[in-house]
Amino acid sequence: MCPVASTEASQPQVHVDLTRANTLALPGHAALYAEITSALQLTAFAGRTTDRCFILGGGSNLVLTGDFDGLVVHMAITGRELAGEDADAWYVRAGAGENWNDFVEWTLAQGWPGLENLSLIPGTVGAAPIQNIGAYGLEVAERFHSLAACDMHTGRIVDFDRNACRFGYRNSIFKQEGWYLDGRYAITEVTFRLPKVWQPLTRYADVAAELAAQGIVTANARQIAAAVIAVRQRKLPDPEQIPNVGSFFHNPVVDAAMADRLHSAHPGLPLYPQSEGRVKLAAGWLIEQAGWKGKNLGPVGMYEKQALVLVNRGGATGADVAMLMQAVQRDVRIKFGVELTPEPIFL
Ligand code: EPU
Repeated sequence: MCPVASTEASQPQVHVDLTRANTLALPGHAALYAEITSALQLTAFAGRTTDRCFILGGGSNLVLTGDFDGLVVHMAITGRELAGEDADAWYVRAGAGENWNDFVEWTLAQGWPGLENLSLIPGTVGAAPIQNIGAYGLEVAERFHSLAACDMHTGRIVDFDRNACRFGYRNSIFKQEGWYLDGRYAITEVTFRLPKVWQPLTRYADVAAELAAQGIVTANARQIAAAVIAVRQRKLPDPEQIPNVGSFFHNPVVDAAMADRLHSAHPGLPLYPQSEGRVKLAAGWLIEQAGWKGKNLGPVGMYEKQALVLVNRGGATGADVAMLMQAVQRDVRIKFGVELTPEPIFL
């Protein structure tokens, strides 16, 4: 599916400005930078043991801490197709460089529902499985079938099925040390499994309220997509206007005893029961209660409509982001005894 015509590796450019390549708009240069439009091109870069390698998608889950003294491979493989179909599902494949939201809209236009709750998430198809993107009651793992990735040590293309990806909450094997950050595997294409028996997921309070406000009782997939988009546009800043990477921290997951203790002391704290008695807490609530909602530290701040989103108010560096991150972590730790871990990757 991926364009086979462009097999020649482009020569890397030197000292390339990455400010516009990361949605937090942080400054930094790549010593070497290459754009890849086919899986075959990647093999030319495989085995370059002299350079550190980083695979860049949409840059929407990235904190650039400064210059990167290695090779940045910008993943720009496009293409989307129905890879197969059986009685139960459509199998839809897309190149890793496809824009995620464009891909979701395309699947809906084809009449293959299933990804609508993940509308408008910034980033690329190839990045979606890395942090197992999720929103409004759905994680991409639930619609994932398999992916292909280039082993940058050997140049071989390797397939990963759902089990091999070891998906967790905003997590997968690709976030483990040595797998992604060191540029070991470059995801080239992803195949999704979209069940033909479609179940609307409208339990999430914000989405339910949006549909109700529009007078929709039995929503179809496109209506759910529109509701999700409306909610996101209301609560989350558009990275084009206000640079950000979405939620900056994971929602912390604690044991039942800790959740009980916190709930007794803070009855307003939203709790989301998970498997094995564990409980997910709302990091945005903790950050708001710790006094950081809408508050700035230097050129960065926590967004006024969603305290979980760290925003660049203009001219920030990676060091500014790290400083605010640590201040928020410290205040949440002092007030609640809860440790917040960052969601984006630091480069
Ligand atoms: N809340 C506050 N104050 C805030 C923000 C949130 O009190 O400033 C409370 C809300 O009132 C609500 C709870 O916290 O009771 C949860 O808030 P929300 O529904 O906005 O979702 P979230 O937990 O903050 C998560 C994901 C988002 C995803 C939304 C919707 C994580 C880290 N974040 O946010 O994902 O869009 O749910 O499903 O799991 C992302 O990962 O980048 C992302 C945007």
